[in-house]
Amino acid sequence: MSADDYKRAAAARALEFIEPGMKLGLGTGSTAAHFVALLGEKVKAGFEVVCVPTSEATAAQARALGIKLTTLDEEPILDVTVDGTDEIDGDLRLIKGGGGALLREKIVAVSSDRLIVIADAEKRVAMLGAFPLPVEVVRFGLASTRQMIEALASDIGCEGPLTLRLKADGQPFVTDNGNVILDCAFGRLPDPEALDDVLRQIPGVVENGLFLGICDTAILAGPDGVEVLQAENLFALDDGLDA
Ligand code: A5P
Repeated sequence: MSADDYKRAAAARALEFIEPGMKLGLGTGSTAAHFVALLGEKVKAGFEVVCVPTSEATAAQARALGIKLTTLDEEPILDVTVDGTDEIDGDLRLIKGGGGALLREKIVAVSSDRLIVIADAEKRVAMLGAFPLPVEVVRFGLASTRQMIEALASDIGCEGPLTLRLKADGQPFVTDNGNVILDCAFGRLPDPEALDDVLRQIPGVVENGLFLGICDTAILAGPDGVEVLQAENLFALDDGLDA
């Protein structure tokens, strides 16, 4: 099976958690797109849900499949959000934002009773940080914000190049919220909470891709099958996780 098959298998398992009439958050990225596609099939067969998309791309996909969309202004509290991730550790802490949708993803995730993360098992890591941390920043004062991130991160031992994310045409990637992204290659993050804290002190930083204490359930699919990890059972499940 390919990585894409595993993503689809995780998405299919997540669908089993969804009940008729639920208010859902729809994530962004290739794994979330599998979930939206499978949900679309159910909706076509008469299954009723209403969804808040985390990006314009997901909104377009859902709309094309006939999935009913709403906004957080109409429905401020959602039942479940299903989203992908770039990395996940043994405490269900995440790095997200590889697709550039981290701000809306985090807003939608914390507005939901439950965040279910779906991924192929390769996304599981012993320690976060091999994937450069996406940080969404406002364009005004970008050079100052960049320096401030470097300085405050360095104070807590996080050092590495910060790269302004570009599109294929060489122009800066602009998020759905009109901001840009600095991909921060700090390497292994032994204390992601400390990094999250310092990034929050910087006015030009809108949000960062660390999702800490937000994920309730992770569904990871790989050669050994589909594994469901629950945040509340972490101690019991720890034995089964990679060290
Ligand atoms: C989007 O901004 C990201 O947070 C995605 O959820 C993440 O990059 C996972 O994407 P894939 O499912 O495409 O790997």
